Amino acid sequence: MNKLSEFVKSADWKSEKHVPVIEAPSRVKSGEWFTISVTVGKEIPHPNTTEHHISWIAIHFAPANGKTTYEIGRFEFSAHGQSAAGPNQGPVFTDSTVSVRAKILTEGTVFATAYCNIHGLWESEKVLTLE
Ligand SMILES: [Fe+2]
Repeated sequence: MNKLSEFVKSADWKSEKHVPVIEAPSRVKSGEWFTISVTVGKEIPHPNTTEHHISWIAIHFAPANGKTTYEIGRFEFSAHGQSAAGPNQGPVFTDSTVSVRAKILTEGTVFATAYCNIHGLWESEKVLTLE
């Protein structure tokens, strides 16, 4: 393997806890705001410990017939129970769910990428059409 994309895994999110689940309307109006939510561990919870956690989620949009993707947002989860008292003894944990508002002017596909510090990169996609 010599391309990053060869390491990005995908699966059915109902049976694989690492797959980011994209929730957004399938049909939207051009130029109207809507919400995109992405969750890792929606059906099967993913661990959230100092040793094993989701580090970040990135969301991209690829216009239909376009030649590149556009980054919508990137979200880092920085608190996983680490503290001076030891692993998982900290007072705060961040969970791997995010929401962002967006509007599109052309149909396309939303891609979500999630990174687990143990199990690597995972992706999913959702097609958006215009009303
Ligand atoms: Fe993991």
